[in-house]
Amino acid sequence: MKYRVGICQFKPELLDVRANLDKMEQLLYNKKADLIVLPELANSGYLFNSSDEVYSIAENAFRGITSQLFLNMAKQNNTSYVVGLAEKDEDKIFNSAILVNPDQSIFVYRKTHLFLEEKLWFTPGNTGFNIFPAKKDVKLGIMICFDWIFPESARTLSLKGAQIIAHPANLVLPWCQQAMITRSLENRVFTLTCNRTGKDINVDKQMSFTGMSQILDPEGKIMARLDQEEEKVIIAEIETDNALDKNITPANDLFKDRRSEFYQK
Ligand code: ACM
Repeated sequence: MKYRVGICQFKPELLDVRANLDKMEQLLYNKKADLIVLPELANSGYLFNSSDEVYSIAENAFRGITSQLFLNMAKQNNTSYVVGLAEKDEDKIFNSAILVNPDQSIFVYRKTHLFLEEKLWFTPGNTGFNIFPAKKDVKLGIMICFDWIFPESARTLSLKGAQIIAHPANLVLPWCQQAMITRSLENRVFTLTCNRTGKDINVDKQMSFTGMSQILDPEGKIMARLDQEEEKVIIAEIETDNALDKNITPANDLFKDRRSEFYQK
């Protein structure tokens, strides 16, 4: 199936949810696609200094102002969106991403592998890696940022049938964008890594993010890539069926040729 996929790279304002929702709405205005991915913690920024700060911007995944905006846009633009947010669930806060569909369904993934100080603010995700139906029932897997360095994340999603992996990110280390070429190739899956740009400054701390959001095909080909600073939506047309064929040569099926009896658990 022909399918239009996009990434929306931008610089969130730290702790200013209203400004970030307005910016995403502006950037996404009139962008016609089947699926668009936004960054990790897109509504809040990243570099927190206290649990109170994280608590102040966290929201319910289904009934918060971020899901409300995306439900409206999903209906209006007939687009599925994946967007990262701090999710409040009773007394726990997760670093989550929601899939919001034009039919008004919402699905949640909670980040499995927390990075650096995230371990101070967030509870490790308890959802595991699941496949969700995006628009037109395309099989979508979600992982968040640092999940990339554990090949099991993309592998599990692919073994479960993902045609596309949505990968909201706030990347600071230099390796992910190139490494994702291998993740796409070794699983023969489309990957949409949507990173943020700019810098967060919070009292005496600062952190810079690497941009270079990208759309990769199942051979690891870069179909689209933004630069380090651009705040922009970029869209590519893919053929989702390409991710169903796991043959890397006529004699080698990436999944059927696995020898899991020799792999370490
Ligand atoms: C990261 O997981 N945000 C690096």
